[in-house]
Amino acid sequence: MEKFIIGNWKMNGTQSLIKTMVESLHKTIEQNSPNAQVVICPPFPYLGLLQKTIEGTAVKAGAQNVYYELSGAYTGEISVNMLTEWGSTYCIIGHSERRSYFGETDELVQKKAVVLLENNITPVICVGETLDQRESGAHEATVVGQLTKALDGISASDLARCIIAYEPVWAIGTGKTASDEQANDMHKVARGKLAELTDESTAKNIPILYGGSVNAKNAASLLSQSDIDGSLVGGASLKPDDFCTIVTSAP
Ligand code: 13P
Repeated sequence: MEKFIIGNWKMNGTQSLIKTMVESLHKTIEQNSPNAQVVICPPFPYLGLLQKTIEGTAVKAGAQNVYYELSGAYTGEISVNMLTEWGSTYCIIGHSERRSYFGETDELVQKKAVVLLENNITPVICVGETLDQRESGAHEATVVGQLTKALDGISASDLARCIIAYEPVWAIGTGKTASDEQANDMHKVARGKLAELTDESTAKNIPILYGGSVNAKNAASLLSQSDIDGSLVGGASLKPDDFCTIVTSAP
C-alpha cells in the first residue's frame, strides 16, 4: 500500500516556508518517486497560497481542523465548503492538542468526520493515550474507546475512506518516540477495532499512521512495521530537508 506522509505544521510556518517546502518536496518526489502520498497541513491562512503552490506537483493540501456546520454565526470557525474552495483534500480532526486545549470531544470528532466524508474530504482521525493511561495499562482501551465513539454511525464504506492516526500523547513534541513494537502493537489493536466495524479486508486497507516525534532518523524503521501505513509529522515537517528524508524513507 502507498504510505501517507502528512505534515502537521500546527501553529507554525510562514508564506515563504510554504514555497520552500513545496519546492523541496516537488524536487524530491520527481527524483525519487517515493512510495508515499505527501500532504501538508498548514494553518488556515496559508491554505490559499498552498493551493496555488502545489499546482502541477504531487503534493496535496490538508487542514488541521474544521467545524461541522456548513455556514452561519460561528465566529472563528471554518466550514468544509471553505476547505473545498481552498483545495484541501484532507483534514486532521481530534488531534490531542485540540482535545486538551480546546475541549474537543469524541462526539465532536464524530460530527466533523461525518461532514468531511459527506463533502469528499479525507478525515485524518487522531487517537492516542496519555502517559498516565499507558502507565496504568489503559492505553488499548483508551484508543479503542476513542475509535468507537469517533466512528459511531459511520458506514463501512465511509470508514474505508478515512485515515486513522495513532499519536500517543506522551510522544508528541517530546522527542520520546514510541518504539517500533509499541507503535505497531497499537496499530494492530486499532486495526482489530476497524475490522469489527467493517471486515478484515476493508480494515487492512484503512491507512493507520503513526505520529509522535517522528524524525529523519527514526522514520524508516517505523514505516517498515507491518501495520504502520505512514506518519503524521509535527516538528520535522517544518524542516524541508528532514521532511523530504521522511518522505523518501517510505519503503
Ligand atoms: P511531533 O512530530 O512534533 O512530535 O508532533 C506530532 C504530532 O502531533 C503530529 O500531529
